[in-house]
Amino acid sequence: MQPTYDRFAKFYDRLFAPFEKRFLARWRAETLAELPKNAEILEVGCGTGANFAFYPQSRRAVSSELSHEMLHIAVTRRHSNHLLQTDVQSLPFPANSFDAAFATLVFCSVPDPAAGFAELRRVVRPGGRIVLLEHVRPEGFLGSVFDVVSAATVALIDDHFNRRTAEIAAKSGLIVTEIRRKAAGAVNLIICENIKASEIPA
Ligand SMILES: C[S@@+](CC[C@H](N)C(=O)[O-])C[C@H]1O[C@@H](n2cnc3c(N)ncnc32)[C@H](O)[C@@H]1O
Repeated sequence: MQPTYDRFAKFYDRLFAPFEKRFLARWRAETLAELPKNAEILEVGCGTGANFAFYPQSRRAVSSELSHEMLHIAVTRRHSNHLLQTDVQSLPFPANSFDAAFATLVFCSVPDPAAGFAELRRVVRPGGRIVLLEHVRPEGFLGSVFDVVSAATVALIDDHFNRRTAEIAAKSGLIVTEIRRKAAGAVNLIICENIKASEIPA
């Protein structure tokens, strides 16, 4: 089946431009500032490459994305990073290939986010970082609104608007060390550490 974002690639940057200007670019910079410098880093779901301008100085940077059409645009923004078409639920890298991995606005549309996190745990070395910027289900009344909106966004664009991404990451074995809540808790910057199950103290 054709990835959903193949259909939106042409419009994506124009659609997001007002949000980039008001807050997204700032949040991207804050998110990528949490990555280690001079390290081997992996971005999953890089889309059209909106984060490339914020990549830290790296020994190796790999940017991966499911949609061929999104990647087609990302290529035009590429600098020294390698681009690759792949699914986060099944990454073509050996274990412990990276010091850190990150994603922005991706896990809302991954069909099985736990499988994606399992793959990130596998390819990031023990003690490495996984950093996420995701829109999530906020607490309280707004959460119920998101539940209603989610029914439509899943049907239209495969986007789970009410996902509890930090909880899923923690249940998948990642150590969530910090959550920075933005936009009344509707957006989270989630910082995780990769500790293998065998290393978690009893
Ligand atoms: C809302 S866009 C975000 C793109 C980019 N990260 C950004 O911040 O602008 C979601 C992206 O996640 C990608 N994506 C969705 N499911 C994926 C999967 N299973 N594996 C890899 N990428 C995926 C989509 O193709 C799309 O490019």
